[in-house]
Amino acid sequence: MTAPLSRSTLLAIRRERIAAALPLGEAILLVGAGEPIPLPENSDQTYPFRSHAEYFYLTAEECAGGVVAFDPQAAPDRRWISFVPAVTEAERIWEGRTQIEGEPLAHLPAWLEARRSRRMAALGAGVAGANSDPELNGRIREALRHARRPKDELELDAVRRAVTATACGFAQLRRALVPGVTERALQIELEAGFFRHGGQRTGYGTIVGSGPNAAVLHFEPTVRAVQSGEFVLVDAGAEVERYTADVTRTYVAGEPSAFQRDFYQAVLEAERRAITRCVVGAEWKAIHLAAAVDLTTALVELGLLRGSPQSLVEREAHTLFFPHGIGHMVGLGVRDASGLLPGRTRDPRPSLQSLRMDLPLAPGYLVTIEPGLYFIPALLNDPGRRARFAPDVNWERAGQYLSLGGVRIEDNILVTAEGPEVLTEAIPN
Ligand code: GLY
Ligand code: MN
Ligand code: MN
Repeated sequence: MTAPLSRSTLLAIRRERIAAALPLGEAILLVGAGEPIPLPENSDQTYPFRSHAEYFYLTAEECAGGVVAFDPQAAPDRRWISFVPAVTEAERIWEGRTQIEGEPLAHLPAWLEARRSRRMAALGAGVAGANSDPELNGRIREALRHARRPKDELELDAVRRAVTATACGFAQLRRALVPGVTERALQIELEAGFFRHGGQRTGYGTIVGSGPNAAVLHFEPTVRAVQSGEFVLVDAGAEVERYTADVTRTYVAGEPSAFQRDFYQAVLEAERRAITRCVVGAEWKAIHLAAAVDLTTALVELGLLRGSPQSLVEREAHTLFFPHGIGHMVGLGVRDASGLLPGRTRDPRPSLQSLRMDLPLAPGYLVTIEPGLYFIPALLNDPGRRARFAPDVNWERAGQYLSLGGVRIEDNILVTAEGPEVLTEAIPN
C-alpha cells in the first residue's frame, strides 16, 4: 500500500497541472493575495481578510500582501515561488500570527528586475507596480478559471467536510422548526449546527424566509415568527478551509395544503430530473432549459400557465415564476469558477440571461442544481409583464397565491464519468 500524498505534495501537483494549462509562452505570472480593506470609519479595523481565490487556489494560504510568482523558464524547483511578507511584531502580539513559509516579499523586486524584458500577467488581486499586459491577463485568467473547474482531492475533502457540517446544521434547524419560531432563531440553530460540526464560517449570508419572505431569493432572516402552514425556505452552507456547500431546503411549518404539496412536488421532480442530466458532456444551458420546460409543464398542470410548455419557455413566460438560473459551480466560494467555456461569448437569448455559466460538464465539476418556483409580487404585479403575458397566465389564480412565498430545492452535484454524485443527499427534503 502506498502512503497518501501530503498536502504540500498535492498542492505542488496542483500548481504543475495549472502551469501546463496556462498559455503563458515565455511570459511570467504574478498572482496577488490582496490587502486587507479598512472599515470606512477609518478605525484600525479591517473587513475580514480573504486571499483572492486565484491566490488561495495556488497556495492554500490566507496571506495578506502575499504574491505567488511563476516563471516557465526557471529550473523546475524554482518555477513557482511564493513571496510572503514578514510577520510584524504587532501582528504577533495582536493576532498571534506566525511567519508563513515562503520567500521574503522583499526579494520580489530583484526577481522582477531579473526578468525585466519579459511579458507579464498579473492575476488575483493584482500586484502594486506590476507592469502587466491587460490582454494577456484576460487570456490567462480565463485559462486559470477553466483549469480550476475540475475539483482535486484536496478540494473534495474540504467540500465533503463542509457538506457534513451543513447537514448537521440543517438537522438542528429542522428540530427547531415549529410554528411560532422566528426566522432568526432558525438561523441561529442552523449556524450553531454548522460550527459545532467543523464549519469555520458560513459560505454566504444565510437565507431563511418564511411565508411571503420565501419568495425573496436572497432573504436575510428577521424576527418574523413562522405561521402554521407557511413555507420556510432555507438556503445556507457551512464553509471549511474556504470551501463551501450551497444547499436549499423548503419546509412547511405544520401541515401543508394540497396546493403546497403539488407546488413543492413540481420543484422536487424538476430537481431530480435535472440532476440526472448532470453527465459528462452535457451543456449547462440545455440542463437549464430542460428544467424550465419541466417546471413550466407543472405550472400548466397547476392551472397557473396556459399553453404548450415548450413555447411558453421560448417566450420566457416561465421567468415569471422561475426567474433565476438552474445553478452554478460551487466550492472555492459560492459561485466558484462559473462563467463561459474559453472562447465562448454570452448567448444572447433573453431566456438565458440569468445563467451563471455556459459550458459542457466535465468530470470533477461540482455544480449546484437549484430549481425554484415563486410568487414574486414585483414580477407578477408588474404592468409590463402582465400585458406581455396576458393570455399565458391565469392571473386570477396566480393572484390568490401572491403571499404564499416560494419553493427552492438545491443540492451539490459532483459530475463523474460514472454519472452524477449528489454530495448533499444526506440532507432530507
Ligand atoms: N445561496 C445562493 C445561491 O443559491 O446561489
Ligand atoms: Mn443557495
Ligand atoms: Mn446556489
